[in-house]
Amino acid sequence: RAVPVVAIDGPSASGKGTVGSMVAKALGWHHLDSGSLYRLTALTALRDGVDLDDEIGVAALAAALPARFDGDRVLLGDEDVSDEIRDEAVSVGASRVAVLPAVRAALFGRQRDYRCGPGLVAEGRDIGSTIFPDAPVKVFLTASPEARAQRRYKQLKEKGLPANMESLMQDLRERDARDAARAVAPLQQQPDAVLLDTTSMDVDAAVAFVLDLVRDRG
Ligand code: C5P
Repeated sequence: RAVPVVAIDGPSASGKGTVGSMVAKALGWHHLDSGSLYRLTALTALRDGVDLDDEIGVAALAAALPARFDGDRVLLGDEDVSDEIRDEAVSVGASRVAVLPAVRAALFGRQRDYRCGPGLVAEGRDIGSTIFPDAPVKVFLTASPEARAQRRYKQLKEKGLPANMESLMQDLRERDARDAARAVAPLQQQPDAVLLDTTSMDVDAAVAFVLDLVRDRG
């Protein structure tokens, strides 16, 4: 029997990361936040001065990323870059390098390698469509743009970082449009994915919903 996968796809700031991590902990399964691989790729390109439109150059960086995950911390080699990969410049960069087919191809096998027993919870944009199309549980997790911008605003304020609702809404709209419109692996709800709209739902309720699905289908 294939190792079970819970695929959670959805737009930016929908709460996928938090829900995915909590579901993985509750099940005792492995966890992959695939967006962090695109973020690490963008961060490395920005640091090395590789142009974000240089498909071959950026794909080479993606293929060689010394990415490591330690609980919810994201590392490049020994350096903890968990906070830095959430910076606005890196977020925008990640959504730009994610349109490049060679970059997606470079990260494909690496994502599939995370599928190990007893199971994997993976979130992103194309997990259910492209990375693990045979996942027995697929969730399309979303929330209204206002709710998503509001959550990001709260997170930034809590960290004592500057935040502006108008520009957060604008950034979200641009990233959503880029993710949905790209030619390769665009963000789309799969026909076999269950819609989970968390606009007026708290994290615990969303986690309980996914765990119920795993019990029913897994
Ligand atoms: O999920 P997160 O916002 O961290 O992802 C950062 C960027 O990486 C997204 O804006 C998206 O363009 C890209 N991404 C992707 N496919 C995935 C995960 C993320 O294209 N599976």
